[in-house]
Amino acid sequence: MSIRRFIPALACAALIAVPVTAQHAPPDPNDTRATFPATPHASKVFAWPTGIPYQADTEPELIRGPQSGYNLCNSTTEGQDSLCQTGFFNSIDDFCIWAPPHPDSVIGDTEGEGVAWCTKPGHGGRLIPEGALTGLQFMKTPAYIQIVGFLDQTKVNIQSGDGGGEFDPHGADVRGNPLGGLMYSNAFSGGGENYQQVIEWSLFIGADAFCFKVCDPAMEDDDHFCEHIYDRMGCTYNMPNQAQNGVFEACLGENQDYPGTYVENGQTLTYTQPAYPTLVEPTYTPRIPGSSSCETFQSAELFAALASVSAPGAETTPAPSDGEDADASGAPTTTGGNPRPTTTPAGGNEAAAGEGEDSSAMTFAASGITIFAVLFATTFFA
Ligand SMILES: *[C@@H]1O[C@H](CO)[C@@H](O)[C@H](O)[C@H]1NC(C)=O
Ligand SMILES: *[C@@H]1O[C@H](CO)[C@@H](O)[C@H](O)[C@H]1NC(C)=O
Repeated sequence: MSIRRFIPALACAALIAVPVTAQHAPPDPNDTRATFPATPHASKVFAWPTGIPYQADTEPELIRGPQSGYNLCNSTTEGQDSLCQTGFFNSIDDFCIWAPPHPDSVIGDTEGEGVAWCTKPGHGGRLIPEGALTGLQFMKTPAYIQIVGFLDQTKVNIQSGDGGGEFDPHGADVRGNPLGGLMYSNAFSGGGENYQQVIEWSLFIGADAFCFKVCDPAMEDDDHFCEHIYDRMGCTYNMPNQAQNGVFEACLGENQDYPGTYVENGQTLTYTQPAYPTLVEPTYTPRIPGSSSCETFQSAELFAALASVSAPGAETTPAPSDGEDADASGAPTTTGGNPRPTTTPAGGNEAAAGEGEDSSAMTFAASGITIFAVLFATTFFA
């Protein structure tokens, strides 16, 4: 049974910068292999299902080597050893995140080889083990769908304490992370088997949290809403949200500001992320988009298919904590050092956004669960 719940827009705003810590080994100066492919990965288009190639990346001679898995995924490849690198994000109960293929991995070292971990069978990948997901907020806006989640990251092969990093179809060498990774969704194309390739998406994962956004390819500014250059600024800045651990909910929302942009004195300004190793200390607080028509669920009703899947790598020992500050890539609503809030931080509530808003009917499918939006606090089609 689901419960309808209303969340006032902009209930809390005080968020702390939680930079991603992933850093890469310097390139080997003696390696003379070329870096860039002839065609950037994000410019490649493959229609589902017949256009999907065995591998989307076809230049194994480049410096990052060959694509580690494959894109042609089916019932044969499905299972906990799958190296499927075609992901899906359809709804609150049907999505795949990218996580490492081998236990106890650090995202910064393995982002090129992430594989699809899904909430449902049928996508040819792995299944997220039961109990790994401990809270989720799904948001559908006019420009994108987004999910922010809390998880036990060791259950998807991420080393305990790893602050994580960003997956997206670009990467410094434009081959994508994971290399060759493709993303599909039916959220903008009528549901069912009408999967459409989503060109612009990003996933931050680490610090026992993740946030994942795929942008409607029909939108002219999908590249801005799914901007990928703020890779050290985590979920707080790339997907500002009010997700809470222990709560599973689906909401409608207004669009966020483009990541990296903010409004000050009526002017839209753009923040520049400094180059590593300069500390990222944003000078602004991102606006949390208004949300409405939130519907809450029990995790068991969303993820029945995961009941039989247990976590891999039980033999590995979590790395000891080094006592540093929580370096959450993700930590959706947390302020540093409290990775698992149980309540919404209360401070300084602002009035619900959008005076004079209009309401309009809108439905969206959570794969079998239709949610009718009746409570709107914000304007959806501004
Ligand atoms: C590069 O090659 C030179 C000459 O063989 C060697 O001395 C040097 O250690 C190598 N550098 C690295 C980073 O491997
Ligand atoms: C299933 O996927 C595997 C791995 O990509 C591929 O080798 C095989 O041809 C696929 N089978 C079908 C029927 O498409």
